[in-house]
Amino acid sequence: MFTPEMLESIKKVEATREERMKHEPARMTAEEKDTLLKAYHPDYRTDGFDEIKIGPNKGQKAPKELADLIHSNSRLIADNVDLSKVDYDVDVLVIGGGGAGSSAAIEAHEAGANVMIVTKLRIGDANTMMAEGGIQAADKENDSPVQHYLDAFGGGHFAARPELLRRLVMEAPDAIHWLNKLGVMFDKDTEGNMVTTHGGGTSRKRMHACKDYSGAEIMRNLRDEVINRNIPVVEFTSAVELIKDDKGQVSGAVLLNMETGDYLVAKAKTVVIATGGAGRLHYQNFPTSNHYGATADGLILGYRAGAPLLYQDTIQYHPTGVAYPSQIFGALVTEKVRSLGAMLVNVDGEAFMHPLETRDVSAASIIRECSDRNKGVETPLGTGVWLDTPMIEILGGEGTIEKRIPAMLRMYLNYDIDMRKQPILIYPTLHYQNGGLEIGGDGFTKTIPNLLVAGEAVGGIHGRNRLMGNSLLDIIVFGRNAGKAAAAKAKETTLGSMTLEHINEYAQELKDAGIENEGVSPLLLPKYARHER
Ligand code: FUM
Repeated sequence: MFTPEMLESIKKVEATREERMKHEPARMTAEEKDTLLKAYHPDYRTDGFDEIKIGPNKGQKAPKELADLIHSNSRLIADNVDLSKVDYDVDVLVIGGGGAGSSAAIEAHEAGANVMIVTKLRIGDANTMMAEGGIQAADKENDSPVQHYLDAFGGGHFAARPELLRRLVMEAPDAIHWLNKLGVMFDKDTEGNMVTTHGGGTSRKRMHACKDYSGAEIMRNLRDEVINRNIPVVEFTSAVELIKDDKGQVSGAVLLNMETGDYLVAKAKTVVIATGGAGRLHYQNFPTSNHYGATADGLILGYRAGAPLLYQDTIQYHPTGVAYPSQIFGALVTEKVRSLGAMLVNVDGEAFMHPLETRDVSAASIIRECSDRNKGVETPLGTGVWLDTPMIEILGGEGTIEKRIPAMLRMYLNYDIDMRKQPILIYPTLHYQNGGLEIGGDGFTKTIPNLLVAGEAVGGIHGRNRLMGNSLLDIIVFGRNAGKAAAAKAKETTLGSMTLEHINEYAQELKDAGIENEGVSPLLLPKYARHER
């Protein structure tokens, strides 16, 4: 399956393996990391960004593709929408059927609210489902939430909002407990203790996993719980605009039935945006590990209604996306592969970085190796470096790969690559939006009463770089909290008359800024989606 050139390079990887295993590369100093990031991380490429011309973040930069959506038109003509004809009337409307949305709905239901999920694909079609390596929680004797906080705060370049990060780490052990009770089958030893590993940038082994399909296992349980509780889920239906009332509170959303093209009105006392990420915008032409619906819709909904973004200019490129074979280009190769001992190695068999640097540093280091240093391995779609997976079997014993990362093994075996015996080729892939809508510690946006945000659509939990396993954690912690808070707030809310006037105001702002954009947003499906109607 490998080309002759790749096979030649593999010989060098094999030749240096024994020596490399004796001398792991040193970790970089803070200064070295800083210099590396500025020179090679895509967040620092000026040609990848545009200035935002209107709205609360006017004057700041955003990835070009996101800025373009911000500068696009609503799908609706406000005056043509009949808000008196209400199709759904609920206490809590959750937009998004992934891990955060499902957690929110479960807790809102538990609190007695009349809650509904609307999702543009099916429940569980979400980045949660794609998550592999695990979920962090400091719940072992040698660890503490403070230690977890310090790791995440440093890894995120000291930019995380303290009130959000504090909540994330403090509520992590309870999140694991909750998932355990729901039925998530975490990896456990023969005594029933959780098996935990390191991730990049962690000082303790606190990564809980369900082999290498942790997200799928978590999502399976959340989805079952939603279904068992008979929480209504409106599938293949997108939220295209938020609705406000005459007091400025959010009061629901206009929905688009993706199958019939009909618009519907959902009235709600509180709304939770849980729409996930933006990988399918393919910033800077990167491939992505994200699911098909990751098109930043929630950011657009919130922004057009007046909610500010935070850190929208910082994106996570997962260091180890598939570089070869081309059929799975950009798919995630879990960081757990490095946690289990595989080293990153260049075309000449040299280890060029410590395998457990944080993600932004690792991605920048790989990009440097493949560009300026010219030490990448040629592939049909570009270049890549080796992840020396046979090391896992040497370090952990024969059978470790099959036991700990079976999905990864199967994915490569489909292409006749046996990662137990041969290394695999990787290159960074667009994985996560570090930024999103700004919220307070209570989960509410600061500018639109009764509007909450949870999961990847939130900005500020992780600062400017997220550590592995803190995303599965944040969807549970912030999803659950959003559900509880939305239910409580709904009880004390009386809605005024509904209006879409903010759409007209936004259109006027576009006009005043001289922006003539033919496009509409939210995007809903990737640009390359087939539209058969
Ligand atoms: O590498 C991974 O398994 C991804 C985990 C994450 O993004 O948290």
